[in-house]
Amino acid sequence: MRLYGLPGNEELGRSLCRALDLPAGELEVRRFPDGESYVRVLDDPAGQRVVLLCTLDRPDAKLMPLVLLAGALREQGARSVTLAAPYLAYMRQDHRFNAGEAVSAVHFARLVSGTFDGLLTVDPHLHRIGSLDEIYTIPSRVVHAAAAMAEWLSRNAPDSLIIGPDAESAQWVSGVAEAAGVPWTVLDKERRGDREVSVSLPDLERWPERRPVLVDDIISTAHTMATAIRHIRETGAGGPACMATHAVFAGDAWEVLRQAGAGRIVTTNTIAHPTNAIDLGPIIGPALKDLLERTP
Ligand code: R5P
Repeated sequence: MRLYGLPGNEELGRSLCRALDLPAGELEVRRFPDGESYVRVLDDPAGQRVVLLCTLDRPDAKLMPLVLLAGALREQGARSVTLAAPYLAYMRQDHRFNAGEAVSAVHFARLVSGTFDGLLTVDPHLHRIGSLDEIYTIPSRVVHAAAAMAEWLSRNAPDSLIIGPDAESAQWVSGVAEAAGVPWTVLDKERRGDREVSVSLPDLERWPERRPVLVDDIISTAHTMATAIRHIRETGAGGPACMATHAVFAGDAWEVLRQAGAGRIVTTNTIAHPTNAIDLGPIIGPALKDLLERTP
């Protein structure tokens, strides 16, 4: 087995190589002056089960190098090429909300399935699509961050009340809270546009001794978290800590959270970001090994 990390994935790449005692492959990835991608495999992958590690926030610019690298690795004799994408893109456009829209999750899955032999990811945003197998035709493995997030909470905030900003978040929130042995609840959210969100008021009086911690799968524009933070503060509570698996942080998301009055912001390292406090290498590693053993 050999792991090639694309630029931007160095830290998690090192953690995974350590966890699996794997050699790190060497690549060159850059752009030609005209914007086209240039990729080169700098060592010999012949006969190896190869992993390309590339998280897929801001996915469009990452896809072309990945497709070219998968082709180059196969030409040079790699036995299989698996994609480890700790954050899996395009999962939220899982439905045609308006006439004429692409159901992007399906088209993206088709592209990835045609390029790789296997897929590993962390907490994909499964909502209307129940499992990756509904849209991906290659073997896939999903890693859950809940245990690692719960461990962080147990060490750093054992008196938490976990709050999910919407009904969809119940799947992540309940896992984290149950593993940490703390209570949880979710709010009702209505999204009226990319950056327009409203949520119901939390009933914090039920847990007077507990400190609210918002937990979600993704912080993207941060408007979901920010709206929930403002409501929590309206009850007289202080600015809650915010925890998420995937630190997408689109545009001015950090400023949006700061202005809403967020306390500490904690994320896992599925996407490299200054808020990363939880290393998932030790739990992604064994799952990746298991997936590779299932590929041809
Ligand atoms: C929504 O369904 C997700 O679970 C997140 O709540 C959402 O994607 C966060 O997006 P944003 O940060 O842009 O509000």
